[in-house]
Amino acid sequence: MLYIGIDLGTSAVKLLLMDGEGRIQKIVSKEYPLYFPHPGWSEQKPEDWYEQTMAGIKELIAQADKSQVAGISFGGQMHGLVILDSDDQVIRPALLWNDGRTYEECDYLNNVIGKEKLSEYTANISFTGFTAPKILWVKNKEPENFARIAKIMLPKDYIAYKLTGVNCTDVSDASGMLLMDVKNRCWSKEMCEICGIKEEMLPKLYESYECVGTVTKEIAGELGISENVKVAAGAGDNAAAAVGTGTVGDGMCNISLGTSGTIFISSKNFGVDKYNALHAFAHADGHYHLMGCMLSAASCNKWWMEDIIGTDEYAKQQEGIVKLGENHVYFLPYLMGERSPHNNPNARGTFIGMTMDTTRADMTQAVLEGVAFALRDSFEVAKSLGIQIERTKICGGGAKSPLWKKMIANILNLKVDVIESEEGPALGGAMLAAVACGEYANVEEAAAKIVKIIDTVEPEPELVAKYEERYQQFRQIYPVCKQLFEVIK
Ligand code: XUL
Repeated sequence: MLYIGIDLGTSAVKLLLMDGEGRIQKIVSKEYPLYFPHPGWSEQKPEDWYEQTMAGIKELIAQADKSQVAGISFGGQMHGLVILDSDDQVIRPALLWNDGRTYEECDYLNNVIGKEKLSEYTANISFTGFTAPKILWVKNKEPENFARIAKIMLPKDYIAYKLTGVNCTDVSDASGMLLMDVKNRCWSKEMCEICGIKEEMLPKLYESYECVGTVTKEIAGELGISENVKVAAGAGDNAAAAVGTGTVGDGMCNISLGTSGTIFISSKNFGVDKYNALHAFAHADGHYHLMGCMLSAASCNKWWMEDIIGTDEYAKQQEGIVKLGENHVYFLPYLMGERSPHNNPNARGTFIGMTMDTTRADMTQAVLEGVAFALRDSFEVAKSLGIQIERTKICGGGAKSPLWKKMIANILNLKVDVIESEEGPALGGAMLAAVACGEYANVEEAAAKIVKIIDTVEPEPELVAKYEERYQQFRQIYPVCKQLFEVIK
């Protein structure tokens, strides 16, 4: 049988066709625009996602035996607010995970409702990218749109709704809405009340590997597939990536170097850190995870390469980087503000430490290292909880760079396991579809059979020591700049 994984990302939708043995048959990618209508705002049109997803599925299965397609599922960019009216029309463009406009609403949630209450209701506090503060923003700033809301959903759920007619979501993605009681895997009545919405507006909650229904007759006809094709709820892209890299069960770690950068630690038990600096979310394997999320990771490198120094020869630029652990130029990678662990939408990208002999290579190196140092900030929070991690998987566009993997291994002092496929969320989506169709008994079995480690980047003690010194310097920069970020607007 064949399974389709749909990774609804920020720059593009990536679609992957996997057979029952877990072999990848084909990958297709389709881009769509991203809008920044004001500094710090970030929006996309759900209609663009749907159009490109349908075009992508058609291309993906064009040469395949369509009668073999058995299941479809997703990894989707998290936290985005999609609102539909009573005629199922999209009310306004979706507010995305890296949109920073809701600082007043976050302030209200964290300081008036209070972090303790939020953590009690949802296991998390408010970050500007989360969905609940966005609902409050629409309520406060666009009351005419708020009055029209009939359905509230997350990005990938809009696609599932169009494919099946079922208004569904999954527990991993729903965790990032700040509307779900993560521990008990149900909607929080208190949060619905605080946001002024009715629970009926929210999708039905499923586990990620559960079947929510089959494709509609119209969709089956348009795609040339059977009406029996099952659709599984899927997962937020980080949980789906964790499935796709085999980061399931207890105490496993995955680092994703995509537009965002995340460090994801799976756990069989529910747990929250004292300051809620890490997100405590449900996992797609039926358990839980902790996650630190930086808003700009591979996107910092893309910005530096393409927009600033004007090249797309990433590998060539990285060839000139030889002085690992010796760079005295530092870069704070906060181009979209920062989520974990600082929770500061006003934070900004910053270079510091240049001298007259600083080269372009030093600055490129600082960008790559800055992302790794910032990931370590979140990793330090996990370590402070007593979590012991010795190795991590890695995925996302940035994982293609051997140099970046080496930096991560040495800056976080972790063994970095490189897996056969870096297609984390799309592969994870296809695996969830396969589990929903009964091809595998559960997510852990699918991961054990499908995910293969092909190499390990080992930390080198001498380099780890050099980077330790550098990290201790890096971590002093943000607290000093913090006040300035309030002024530079
Ligand atoms: C996670 C997060 C990002 C997006 C990227 O909390 O906001 O990783 O999911 O698509």
